[in-house]
Amino acid sequence: MAVAHSALIRQTDQIAMPATTAEMPPLIRRLGAGVRDVMELRALPAPVARFQWRARRLARHLGDRFSLASATRPADLAVLLELADGRRRVVELGTATAWTAISLALADPLRLLTTYDPVTQPLRERYLALAQPRARRQIELVGGPGLAGPRDRDPIELLYIDSSHEREQTIAELHAWRPALAPGAFVIFDDYVHPAFPGVREAIAELGLEGELRGTLFVHRPSAS
Ligand SMILES: C[S@@+](CC[C@H](N)C(=O)[O-])C[C@H]1O[C@@H](n2cnc3c(N)ncnc32)[C@H](O)[C@@H]1O
Repeated sequence: MAVAHSALIRQTDQIAMPATTAEMPPLIRRLGAGVRDVMELRALPAPVARFQWRARRLARHLGDRFSLASATRPADLAVLLELADGRRRVVELGTATAWTAISLALADPLRLLTTYDPVTQPLRERYLALAQPRARRQIELVGGPGLAGPRDRDPIELLYIDSSHEREQTIAELHAWRPALAPGAFVIFDDYVHPAFPGVREAIAELGLEGELRGTLFVHRPSAS
């Protein structure tokens, strides 16, 4: 008997299977995404995992692929939160829709986070509204590039660079922030191993920074060099 072929269906010996997740019925797709979220988010502290879960659900509902693709991946976020433990003055360069900023605030109620981005993402406030008001008050949003440098004299205990990913800008950012780093501070670069962003690796090489790779993050401790 001839087998009917559909562009959407891949025929196995026994069962017709969807060829990609996009072809699955919406309920199955949502369940699949929910299971994936639980697996990926379980390494995070409970308040952070709860926020990320809700943010992912909202992003899918809104069709916000930008946030789903650009926010720091859960495995890297777990490393970032581990390194941030006990560090209260934190600066992030590259806010996007603030998922990581909110996560850093939720992980420590005494942490103050300043985050820079020249672009205000239209959906940012939707995600900030998911955070408790207390966490929202811990976050200072700065509309401007990371290379603008510090706005006050508070020593920074952790600098997280997840901005342009371009060589020259990354170098300029480190020069702008280095004088503000507290003794023992961490400088963490996102996407060190990402093939699409060679600028991060090139900047680190040009600056001659020592450090270690944790996930896709490059972790540099100036006072240890
Ligand atoms: C990968 S996204 C950041 C994701 C965010 N850290 C998170 O985990 O949710 C990169 C962001 O860097 C911003 N950006 C680009 N150039 C920048 C610069 N010179 N300074 C600060 N942010 C910049 C972009 O507008 C974009 O929102």
